[in-house]
Amino acid sequence: MRHPQYRANMSSLDAASSKVMRLGEFLEGSRTRLRLVELSDCGPRYLSWLRDPEVNRYLETRWQLQTEESIRSFVEAMQADPWSYLFCIIDRQDGRHVGNVKLGPVSPRHLCADVSYFIGERSCWGRGLASEAIGLATDFGFRFLGLNRVQAGVYGSNLGSVKALERNGFRAEGCWRRQLRSGQEWEDHLWFGLLREEWQAWQAAVRRLEPA
Ligand SMILES: CC(C)(COP(=O)(O)OP(=O)(O)OC[C@H]1O[C@@H](n2cnc3c(N)ncnc32)[C@H](O)[C@@H]1OP(=O)(O)O)[C@@H](O)C(=O)NCCC(=O)NCCS
Repeated sequence: MRHPQYRANMSSLDAASSKVMRLGEFLEGSRTRLRLVELSDCGPRYLSWLRDPEVNRYLETRWQLQTEESIRSFVEAMQADPWSYLFCIIDRQDGRHVGNVKLGPVSPRHLCADVSYFIGERSCWGRGLASEAIGLATDFGFRFLGLNRVQAGVYGSNLGSVKALERNGFRAEGCWRRQLRSGQEWEDHLWFGLLREEWQAWQAAVRRLEPA
C-alpha cells in the first residue's frame, strides 16, 4: 500500500499538520482504492445515493433533505477538519467512485476514531467492496495515525454492515437496546470495536491463510 509520509505518533502531531495526505494519493486494495473526497465528486450520482431509500435506510443523512449544496458543505467541512478523513471508495474494476468511507472524528488524546461507510451503487453490493474499504481505512488509522482503537456503530438489522466489520476482526462490544428508529420500528444500536493488537493479530492470521 502506498502512503504519504505520516509521523507514527499521533500525540506529537498538532492539528494543523496532521492532515498531510494530499488529494490524489491512494490507499490501495485489490478490489478498491481510497482517496480523499474532492468537491468535484459532489455531483448527481453522489446525491442520488443519499436520496436512495435503500442506501440511506441506515444513514443519519436521511433525516435532512440532501442536495448537491449540502453534500458540498459536508465535504468542505471534512476537508477543513484535521481530525476527519473522508475517502471515496473507488471500484478498481472500472475506476468509478461507488461510495465513501470516513475515518473520524479522530481523538488525538485517546488515539481512537469512528469508522463509517456506505456503498452508494447498489449494483456493487455483495462484492466485498465495503469489507475491503473498511480494512483500508482502519489500517490507515492504525499504521499511519498511530491509533489504539477504531470503532463503529451499526443498526441491529444491518447484517451486511455487521459482517463487513466482522470480516475485519471487529468485535461486538455492546448493544443499546431499541436506541434507534428505522421507519416505524425500533432498532438495537450495536457497537463494534477493534484494538490495535487485535488488528495486527487479524492481519497475521489472514496472511497465513493466503496462498503462498
Ligand atoms: C452495508 C454495506 C456497506 C455492505 O457493503 P458491501 O460492499 O455489500 O459488503 P461486502 O460485499 O463487503 O459484504 C460483507 C458481508 O456481508 C454480506 N452481506 C452484504 N449485504 C448483506 C445483506 N443485505 N444481508 C446479509 N448479508 C449481507 C456479504 O455477503 C458478506 O458476507 P461474507 O463475509 O459472508 O462474505 C452496503 O450494503 C451499504 O452501503 N448499505 C447502505 C448503507 C449502510 O448501511 N452503511 C453502513 C452503515 S453502518
